[in-house]
Amino acid sequence: MDKRYIDKILSKYNEPSGKLLGILEDIQEKEKYLSKEALKYVSEKIGVSFSQIYSIATFYSFFNLQPVGEHIISVCMGTACHVRGAVEILNNIQYLLGVGVDESTEDGKFFLTTEDKHFSVNTARCFGCCSMAPVVRIDDKIYGYVKIKDLPKILKEYGWGKK
Ligand code: FES
Repeated sequence: MDKRYIDKILSKYNEPSGKLLGILEDIQEKEKYLSKEALKYVSEKIGVSFSQIYSIATFYSFFNLQPVGEHIISVCMGTACHVRGAVEILNNIQYLLGVGVDESTEDGKFFLTTEDKHFSVNTARCFGCCSMAPVVRIDDKIYGYVKIKDLPKILKEYGWGKK
């Protein structure tokens, strides 16, 4: 962990202790995940307990607490998406990427990461666009009305199948 970039992020905020979400988002944007070291460092720097910061990081499903692949695929498992085939979408993504082992983590999330670390797959609760169910997010892009037959085309946008 490079403390300099965290210092830089903290310097953007006047009252960092009240801006934890923004700080954690900025760190994740840079590192793609929140390491324990980074959380401890933030805790020391802004005087908020590690347990408080950790509970925020684990509460929000968009925070990752372990290293992940270059592209993160999140399959929504909220009710609307679930009834419109989210499980089948997830299973097919796993099949196409060749990932099938559930690597549950201490924060209760799981990431299935391809051997080449190009993709990580996980699930999310709801992206707030239920009318487009089933919904899949890849990095910052939302795909709605996803059909199983569309998956290869979508994944190819991120380099799937090139190797
Ligand atoms: S339930 Fe999937 S976006 Fe809301």
